[in-house]
Parts: sequence; structure tokens; C-alpha cells
Amino acid sequence: MSIPNKDLNIWEHSLPLRELCRRRALDLEPEMDCARQGAEILAPYLAGERKTVLDVGCGGGHFYNSLSRRGLNFDYFGLDYSPAMIEIARDVFKLRGQDPGAFMLEDVRDLHGFGCQIAVAVNTLSFIADFREPLQRLSDAGAELIVVRDNFGPETEIKWETDGFLDPGSNHLKGYWNRWSVGETREFLQSLGYDVSQAEDDHCRGRMELVVEKPYHWSWMIAKR
Ligand SMILES: C[S@@+](CC[C@H](N)C(=O)[O-])C[C@H]1O[C@@H](n2cnc3c(N)ncnc32)[C@H](O)[C@@H]1O
Repeated sequence: MSIPNKDLNIWEHSLPLRELCRRRALDLEPEMDCARQGAEILAPYLAGERKTVLDVGCGGGHFYNSLSRRGLNFDYFGLDYSPAMIEIARDVFKLRGQDPGAFMLEDVRDLHGFGCQIAVAVNTLSFIADFREPLQRLSDAGAELIVVRDNFGPETEIKWETDGFLDPGSNHLKGYWNRWSVGETREFLQSLGYDVSQAEDDHCRGRMELVVEKPYHWSWMIAKR
């Protein structure tokens, strides 16, 4: 596997989204509820000895801000397979005099030889063909805590559909908009040796949210070992 063809990657084809991600990374937008909640879930694990956090599908890297504004003790790495997103993330780190090498341009399914203690995937796994591949890679990376916000429901539903809100000329492009069965995800994480708990999403509180006019039921899965 390698970085998907940019011409076919939906995340490369929305100028408004790129601009929003840049503003978020620069901390010019209000903190997203999910970023706040993710940082609050991680906080107790980052209060003592310094730990490595991998932000999977980091976009422009705004989750770094949510961790750092809480004074937590962590080394941050962001990973995303969209060159445009990684460029934004690296630019913002450079502007702040931070090491842009914290951001990796990579498909999470290719993650090998990287070690982290904590992995977080906020709004990312839904867009990947099979949730098991990234979770297996994060387990192999040694993550003692995996925190996932995703579109969870009673059954897995695989959808390969157009986005419809991309730049003019790109709206034929398709991506995954999957929903994962809570039971299947929990069982898979348990098979990797994790104890699994769930948390309601503070933003949606059990309600459906439309994401580019597709129904999403966001909630959290927290896996510890
Ligand atoms: C909805 S955005 C979420 C960005 C950020 N986590 C947030 O919550 O604002 C999903 C991100 O996942 C990335 N992504 C999707 N599939 C990926 C994969 N297989 N490997 C790495 N990144 C991926 C996309 O490029 C995109 O930046």
C-alpha cells in the first residue's frame, strides 16, 4: 500500500475544508467539541511521565492544540495520508518554530516500525475500508491506549459513495463513509488484548448528525491494555 493517488483522494479536493483545517491548526477557530472531549479522555494518561501520542488522520493537526492547552506531558506525532493536510500541519508547526517532522505522510495501514503509547483516531476510521487494519497497526505499534471517535452503530455498514461537497469538477470522487458495529469493534479490540469501554459523544449526545448529508452517529470507544 502507499499514499493513494492524490487525484482520487477526496481529502485533497475541498478548498474550504483545507482553509478550515488551517485556521483550526492555527487556533483561529473555536476548539471542536470532539477535540476537547478527546483531550479530556487522554488527560489522565498524560498527567505523569511523558508519553508518545499518535494522532491518526490528524488533518491539519489541530488536536495538538487541544492537548497542549491542557498542559499535558506528551510527545505528539500526527499521521495522515493526505499530502494537502500534512502540508498544512507542517507549515503551522514551522510557523511556530516547532519540528514539522512530527507529521508523517502515510496511510495508517502502512504503519510499521513506529512505536507509540497512546493512539487517537478522531473522525478517521469511518473513511477507511476496514476498521481492523488501522486498529491492528496501532496495537502492533505498542499502544497501551487507543481512543476512537467514530460512526458506531448496531451493524457494520460499508458505504462507498460520492462526497458531493468537493471543489467544482471533483464531485465524481468517491470515498468510504462506513459505520462500524460496536460489537464487532469491541470484540476485535478485545482479541488484541484490550479492555474496552464506550463513552457518549458530548457533541451529538446520541443524536444523529449529518456529515455531507450522510447520517452519522458519533460515539467513543476507549481501549486499554
Ligand atoms: C474527517 S478528517 C478528520 C481530521 C481530524 N482528525 C479531525 O477530527 O478534525 C479524516 C482524516 O483522515 C485522513 N485519513 C483517511 N484515511 C486515512 C488513512 N488510511 N491513513 C491516514 N489518514 C487517513 C484523511 O486524510 C483526513 O484528513
